[in-house]
Amino acid sequence: MMRVLSGIQPTGRFHWGNYFGAIRQYIDLQDGNEAYYFIANLHALTTIRDRGVLWQNTIDAALDLLALGLDPERATLFVQSDVPEVSELTWLLMTGTSLGLLERCHAFKEKKAKGLTADAGLFTYPVLMAADILAYGSHLVPVGEDQVQHIEVCRDLAGSFNHAFGEVFVLPKAKVLESAARVPGTDGEKMSKSYNNTIEIFEDPKSVRKKVMRIVTDSRPMEEPKVPETDHLFQLYSLFAAPAERLAMAALYRAGGFGYGQVKKALADAAEGYFAEARAKRLELAAHPEKVREILGDGAQRARARAQQTLQRAQEACGVKAES
Ligand code: TYM
Repeated sequence: MMRVLSGIQPTGRFHWGNYFGAIRQYIDLQDGNEAYYFIANLHALTTIRDRGVLWQNTIDAALDLLALGLDPERATLFVQSDVPEVSELTWLLMTGTSLGLLERCHAFKEKKAKGLTADAGLFTYPVLMAADILAYGSHLVPVGEDQVQHIEVCRDLAGSFNHAFGEVFVLPKAKVLESAARVPGTDGEKMSKSYNNTIEIFEDPKSVRKKVMRIVTDSRPMEEPKVPETDHLFQLYSLFAAPAERLAMAALYRAGGFGYGQVKKALADAAEGYFAEARAKRLELAAHPEKVREILGDGAQRARARAQQTLQRAQEACGVKAES
């Protein structure tokens, strides 16, 4: 059986990029695999410095994931910091991690390029992420394209630890959906909270429609035929549309003679229907916070049991613990 794992930061409410790039994969992969999904609150601490906000975001993240179809009977859902073994494993990996490797990682590089000061947490972020993955012996890590580099770092670190101390870690593989590797935001760049171009999954439908209507488009005349595949409005529409609708829209693009307003309306309509069921389920879940806490508590227990085994093997292998 394959072990699947992924994490998501509670830095704000989840957006369409999170859903189509990652969350949808979590839900598909919970069948037929041993799946672990966690809310990466320790990673979020590199940007959120307000205890109330971080805590509320963590609860919201759990509600969002459960409402979207993550099933605690089939997958283990937990909060990252509830498994302290991962932090211990991070140290074991940190020794032996070259600075150059971390300097090449894009989160750090981008922040530095903007002239912002990065703290040690942001710099060593990929090492914690590697420990997240390795602690559960994960084979497969479903993510969007922006995380692939971090999974390569994880493989590197696992490989060099294994080389030094023996075969302790499983080398994981990233799983990226071709159709949603990099979901565009309202400005056509990658959808991302830090670019201020997101549309949230559980945002009020009226506000979604407003944002959709403001999606940036080019100013070519209506008559001119257009290439659908390279247009970000078409890419967004494709995520929500059924295959036949997608084909019909592509044909409209190629023929020309349509307005972008027409596509935006179709996108807003499709998006509203798409998340209606999850929206109702979320309301129901939010009325029972004790149930959500119980799910996270159970999840943490299960996740810890596996992480403890891995940590022990790693500790014995590198000589900080006597062999059992
Ligand atoms: P995070 O919280 O930034 O994003 C969560 C997931 O959403 C995906 N994603 C996107 N996919 C497609 N298009 C987009 N525009 C888009 N925006 C976000 C991300 O690729 C990701 O899969 N470092 C991770 C969290 C993490 C983690 C882990 C992931 C911590 N430990 C271990 C996997 C395994 C992060 O910041 O994701």
